Amino acid sequence: MTESLRVLIADDSTSALYALKTSLAPTGAILTTAMDGLEAQHILEKQAFDLIITDVDMPKLDGLKLCDWIKNNPNTAATPVIILSSRESDQDIDNGFRVGADGYVPKSSAVQELIPRIEQVLNKTAMTKNRILLVVDDSEAIRTFLHTGLSAEDFEVLLARDGKEAMEILAKTSPDLILSDLMMPNMDGKQLCHHIKTRDDLKNIPFVIMSSVQDKAIMHRTIHDGAASYITKPFGINNLVQIIDKILSEQFRVMLVERDRLQAERRMTFGSIASLVKALEARDHYTSGHSESVTHIAMHMAKRLNFTDDQIIRLHIAGNLHDLGKIGVRDNVLLKPDKLTDEEFEHIKSHTTVVVDILDPLPGMEDVLVAASSHHERWDGTGYPTGLKGEDIPLLGRILAVADVFDAMTCDRVYRKGMSKTGIRDFIFEERGKKFCPECVDAFMDWYTQSDGIVAPLEDWGN
Ligand SMILES: [Fe+2]
Repeated sequence: MTESLRVLIADDSTSALYALKTSLAPTGAILTTAMDGLEAQHILEKQAFDLIITDVDMPKLDGLKLCDWIKNNPNTAATPVIILSSRESDQDIDNGFRVGADGYVPKSSAVQELIPRIEQVLNKTAMTKNRILLVVDDSEAIRTFLHTGLSAEDFEVLLARDGKEAMEILAKTSPDLILSDLMMPNMDGKQLCHHIKTRDDLKNIPFVIMSSVQDKAIMHRTIHDGAASYITKPFGINNLVQIIDKILSEQFRVMLVERDRLQAERRMTFGSIASLVKALEARDHYTSGHSESVTHIAMHMAKRLNFTDDQIIRLHIAGNLHDLGKIGVRDNVLLKPDKLTDEEFEHIKSHTTVVVDILDPLPGMEDVLVAASSHHERWDGTGYPTGLKGEDIPLLGRILAVADVFDAMTCDRVYRKGMSKTGIRDFIFEERGKKFCPECVDAFMDWYTQSDGIVAPLEDWGN
């Protein structure tokens, strides 16, 4: 670390300031302190620093607002900012990066992490470390120049001689950015850009054109076709690195915005589903709470089946609306207090196909839809609506089948008393490999043994 590194530390806690000063003392850095964001701002208006370390929670102006101000002020924008916070939630870390922070260190591990993080930020490795760049150019001299220069900046550099070779690399690796010449044999830069921007799996990779002045018209057309930027030959590595850094930071910001959008969309979908389920349960109070219990059990089973977070979220949705099709069942059947006749039973079975009609118009619900429609299928092929057998039944449907039977049979109905939990557990175990998927029964038994069959409130499963 540079001996004369000038560091501004903003923290309202005297003890935190003391601890920071002590941990930074061995670096020989020149330290200036501010007790809040506003004081830091005033200091920054008069003096330049090599690094700013700021707490988040401070009076007058908090650390995030201070960071935002620093990054939007032309005199300070280039100064790296490290956020130091006692809060370690993803949201707080995201907020830090959203306002342009270069690094984040939790207070609890500041003693061990602060100095390595400072070095990382100052070396600019935070953004470039492990970033893969694909350089496409038919000139060997340019390939060598870029490979040497960009590798020295900690990028991983892949090389291709033309668009065709680049496409071969792209079939195996996904770089973070493509840097391409325009005029090349086999496939030129314009064609390569077109290929990339029309492929769903590649179109988000930023494409930067390296062009000589005489290619300007084609260069502009390529920008129009989706290239992120261009750089005119000849250029220096520093200039190129600045452009790459800017694009990658922007890409990161766009990714965060996109993630927020998806989360908002997911919250809306969950909200609509909850309303639909409530509408059903308002009609049929016997099944009130059933969907929720089935979801609880199914998600615990899924955890034991090593589902990913995304799969668990899908199962959460499927569990909540597995009986939604009952909205289409006549009142005199759905609410009938006595045992159903054969004809009525046939009618109630239709809830597994009605749910398909209800969910079909919703985009991205295909897996949920098949899960909900298959929760009455049975491993041995004796279920409905289609009599699917074994692994032909979607896994989510097989899980729901077990959870559904357990919850439905423990509930009291006017015409029958609910069975004991142990009785149903034994029944489910007996039907392992007969009515129910063996793997799902194992996951269910595991949950039952651990919970004693009690449906505990769900933890936050990421919804
Ligand atoms: Fe059902």
